[in-house]
Amino acid sequence: MSAIRYELGSDKVLTLTIDMPGQSANTMNKAFREALDETVPKVLGDLENIRGIIVTSAKKTFFAGGDLNEIFKVTRDDAQAFEDMVNAMKAQMRALETCGKPVVAAINGAALGGGFEIALACHHRIVLNNNSIQLGLPEVTLGLLPGGGGTQRLPRMIGLEAAFPLLMEGKKLRPAAALKAGIIDEIADSPEDMMAKARAFIDANPNCQQPWDKKGFKLPGGAPHHPAMAQKLAIAPAMLKQKTKGCYPAPERIMAAAVEGAQVDFDNGSLIETRYFAELVTGQVSKNMTGTFWFQLNDINAGGSRPSGVEKETFKKVGVLGAGMMGAGIAYSTATRGMEVVLKDVSAESAEKGKSYSENLLATKVSRGHMTEEKKAEILGRIKATDSAADLEGCDLVIEAVFEDSDLKAKVTAEAEPKLVDNGIFASNTSTIPITQLANASAKPENFIGLHFFSPVDKMQLVEIIVGEKTSDETLARAFDYVQQIGKTPVVVNDSRGFFTSRVFGTFVNEGICMLGEGIHPASIENAGLLAGMPVGPLTISDEVSMTLMQLVRSQSKKDVEAAGGTWNPHPAEAIIDQMVNEHGRKGKAAGAGFYEYPAKGKKYLWPELETLFVDNEKARDVKLQDLKDRILFIQAIETVRCLEEGVLRTVEDANIGSIFGIGYAPWTGGAIQFVNQYGVRAFTERAQELANIYGERFTPPALLLEYAEQEKPFT
Ligand code: NAI
Repeated sequence: MSAIRYELGSDKVLTLTIDMPGQSANTMNKAFREALDETVPKVLGDLENIRGIIVTSAKKTFFAGGDLNEIFKVTRDDAQAFEDMVNAMKAQMRALETCGKPVVAAINGAALGGGFEIALACHHRIVLNNNSIQLGLPEVTLGLLPGGGGTQRLPRMIGLEAAFPLLMEGKKLRPAAALKAGIIDEIADSPEDMMAKARAFIDANPNCQQPWDKKGFKLPGGAPHHPAMAQKLAIAPAMLKQKTKGCYPAPERIMAAAVEGAQVDFDNGSLIETRYFAELVTGQVSKNMTGTFWFQLNDINAGGSRPSGVEKETFKKVGVLGAGMMGAGIAYSTATRGMEVVLKDVSAESAEKGKSYSENLLATKVSRGHMTEEKKAEILGRIKATDSAADLEGCDLVIEAVFEDSDLKAKVTAEAEPKLVDNGIFASNTSTIPITQLANASAKPENFIGLHFFSPVDKMQLVEIIVGEKTSDETLARAFDYVQQIGKTPVVVNDSRGFFTSRVFGTFVNEGICMLGEGIHPASIENAGLLAGMPVGPLTISDEVSMTLMQLVRSQSKKDVEAAGGTWNPHPAEAIIDQMVNEHGRKGKAAGAGFYEYPAKGKKYLWPELETLFVDNEKARDVKLQDLKDRILFIQAIETVRCLEEGVLRTVEDANIGSIFGIGYAPWTGGAIQFVNQYGVRAFTERAQELANIYGERFTPPALLLEYAEQEKPFT
């Protein structure tokens, strides 16, 4: 059965329905290409009997885009064959586009990436009025570019400037926004209306050509050589580099393909696009990003880390203890997903204050037209702010987010647990205290688990699920369901101080602070962090977290290590933190003074005294940028390998996703373990040893790394 149904009506309107057999969504793979190779010549041979063509889909979505299974496997050796294949497919789309008859895309569901490029190759785009439909070219988010003509057609349609954010940031638009942006032409109220509108377009435009195929075509907003555009394009690459820090080849190649393509005719532009596409497809960064953000994330979302054999649970009533910063955010994230929330604090006033956090967030949505007043009232109606534990009666799940104090956490656990339904779950949002230790206060430690949220909860997508010694598989599976029910991504880790994310995060900030102690200029340290691909520099984030909190966590960890009979091995950063806090009173951002100065008006800047206190001019001058960048990425990757070795991490998928979503580990790497893989496990190990020889034994390759290096085997 062909993937494209060919139905010529008595009204001479040809409907091409894309319906790939054996797939839930249409993708650009071999079967699709074969169908295209069959269909297009048939259309061209039948033109006399055709007045117009409607392209639509039989699936729930219109077309899902390129086939990533296929693209992921393409290597540099296959580059020429890949280019030829892409060009051949684009030639078929082009043949339809230039056949002289009107071609209309009747977009019945999401059209993303290659799917939207098919629509762009049509003369007219009509989308169903359904706000869940997304349209756009998100290839860049996987390190790729729209290689199906998107970098050529979109600028010719709406101009380079308007096309840039859609192409280079991969923005997805809902139908109304897409209409406003000029990337679709009409919105239809029903499938029937959509088809009627498509026929009306065909009736009104018997002969059709794309604007760019008409004589005298001018690029909207000006071609690259137009003085106003030339001026903008002169600085555009620098502005882009400021954002990408040179870590992301995709947006750079997209800009190049669009601008270079706009200076030649469409067909040559299309060839330019394919060249850049092949370069990205065969490059390492797209492999890193596609591997992690597509395959591994899908695996996690499909329940890869969820114990099987436990029926999926839908939570109805969730208790949240502590209406502070975290509790308020957890309540919001839960209530917006349809669950009842009991938000408890020590006083009704504190609880109400926590609820007002939701009220403010929802009010912003209403003011921006993203939500109705009724919906806001409905969500707020689901949050019961209270000071009484009795209101927790009947909760399926209680999450505590009270102060970070074991005794207090024990007290609230004992108070809330009896109110849970039979087999209800009690979860702690502790950021540092081992779950096994907290579970001692529980009458049912098998139903006790860690749910570590990140701040701000409403924005951060990750939840780190921590399995205590006695936590049952069933509890883990159900906690996993809750995290998915609130639309977040769960990673599962075993219990350990700092779990996974906080442990690795600690190595990042400590490494940066340690560099300062060595005499390296603070600006170099911050820039090295950014150039390595971290979202912020290590000194910035230390100020955000606050150095007093770092001292607190350290003294608690030290106490625990010593209580267990071990010896505390101080990190060189500790002395710098103590000096900053104890001698200079510089605790961090909240205190108004840290590594940075925070003037009441204007931007923060590095505290000038850092130069006199720490900077060693000779060292600062001789420092190698590559060493600084490597130290930042290596130390976190090494700690991640240790977490795998110690069984804190259970899977490579969780390691990669957890490191990026939780810590902001440079996304271009595909995560802390993929960084090792793509560097080459053996080469990574050698470089780690080199860093250990120069900078300290914390870089010494752990045994697991040596084992993989020996076998030259990537982590999977
Ligand atoms: P917070 O200080 O903003 O809020 C704590 C709240 O607990 C306060 O409103 C307090 O009145 C309330 N509380 C105290 N005793 C209570 C009791 N007996 N019953 C009910 N409520 C009580 O603290 P935050 O930042 O929200 O942290 C809460 C927990 O989340 C801590 O364990 C913290 O380590 C953890 N966490 C914090 C993160 C952060 O970025 N702040 C990130 C991840 C976890």
